[in-house]
Amino acid sequence: MNARFDPSAGLSGKVEVPADKSISHRAALLGAMSSDPVRIENYLEAADTRSTLEAVRSLGALVEERGSELIIRGTGLREARETDEPIDVGNAGTLLRLLPGWLVAQDGRSFTLDGDASIRRRPVDRIAAPLRQMGAELEATAGRFAPLHVHGTRLHAISYELEVASAQVKSCVLLAGLAADGSTSVTEPARSRDHTERMLLRAGVPIERSGLKVTVLNVDELQLERVRIPADPSSAAFLIAAGVLVRGSRLLLGDVGVNWTRTGFLRILRRMEGIVLGDLEESSERITPEEPVSDLDVAHGALEGTVVEAAEVPLAIDELPLVALLGCFAEGETIVKGAQELRLKESDRIAGVVDGLRGLGADIEATPDGFAVRGTGGLRGGRIDSLGDHRLAMVGAVAGLASSEGVEVIGMEAAAVSYPGFVADIRRLSGG
Ligand code: S3P
Repeated sequence: MNARFDPSAGLSGKVEVPADKSISHRAALLGAMSSDPVRIENYLEAADTRSTLEAVRSLGALVEERGSELIIRGTGLREARETDEPIDVGNAGTLLRLLPGWLVAQDGRSFTLDGDASIRRRPVDRIAAPLRQMGAELEATAGRFAPLHVHGTRLHAISYELEVASAQVKSCVLLAGLAADGSTSVTEPARSRDHTERMLLRAGVPIERSGLKVTVLNVDELQLERVRIPADPSSAAFLIAAGVLVRGSRLLLGDVGVNWTRTGFLRILRRMEGIVLGDLEESSERITPEEPVSDLDVAHGALEGTVVEAAEVPLAIDELPLVALLGCFAEGETIVKGAQELRLKESDRIAGVVDGLRGLGADIEATPDGFAVRGTGGLRGGRIDSLGDHRLAMVGAVAGLASSEGVEVIGMEAAAVSYPGFVADIRRLSGG
């Protein structure tokens, strides 16, 4: 489906941003791993998180849907049921990377994970390596890709160092650590989102962080009871960018998740002089159990270019395509470094955003680990291909609203994996 976004005279009003995708995946998985029922409030209704519900159902969890509330009656940590069919993760990379962390602990049972064409290009060797060290057997297609076969076993604890900061890989190892003998630790080169750590702490798991190292102890069961999912700061980021870029805009976003490990984009935007008011969480030395929220108040204003260094990348990983878009409108140069991970997302997001924005008139070039944009004060417009990637589709839409001639997005339906109501929301906010 193609969709056209004409220059807007300003977005205004209040928005309820959809629930957090990362936290929804984790809530459904930990619910399924629990022995007692877990109540999940405000679960994300979108394609990726629906894949997670179907996956946990196929593994024996009962999922009762009551509007935006779910009750999950799980199988317990070590009692997932073997499935006859491959588990379909759809387009959800997070499900593909986290679920094996649980499945490897199912002693004597085997599972296959598969998904759509884009999932079959997302590497799984980074989770397979630590899980093998813990004693599990895994076979990936061509050594790296889905379909992925997982054979559960009794696990032993490891101490593992990640080469690249990744919340997905870290979470996978921590989940496996819950059933391993002893204490499992993961060290990252930089902080990445810590929703798994916070939720495990709330579930009564002994878990702690010291610097960049997280250590978890094995447990018999999880005690989670209730999870409330905040609005997704990554989905909010697209509306925030629209509010900042389109002249005359003023937006109010309610109860957005402001966990420090997710607000890198807001810190970058504030450095660019963007106007976003809200009460953001400070960085903390220890793991906190809460997922803090804040209302955010956004207004249009002029932007300055900035440099994003490698340590900041995992804290804004899904929003970096938006930083490229902001850079087009900023005064001076905007550079993103150390972001080669972007090439391994739902699409190669360095190539996708650079080619896409250049096609709309941007002065932007790719580097091996990021991109550099010279701000020209605006963007002409034209056509952009989402490449089937939700975040690129939404970048195209925002670009259209802020452009001088409008943008046609090829493949706008991709937005449905994280934000099904996105087009309706921006049309309403821009009075169209
Ligand atoms: C996610 C982690 C990130 C992010 C993805 C969701 C998660 O990936 O890009 O959209 O929920 O753990 P990595 O941290 O593995 O790069």
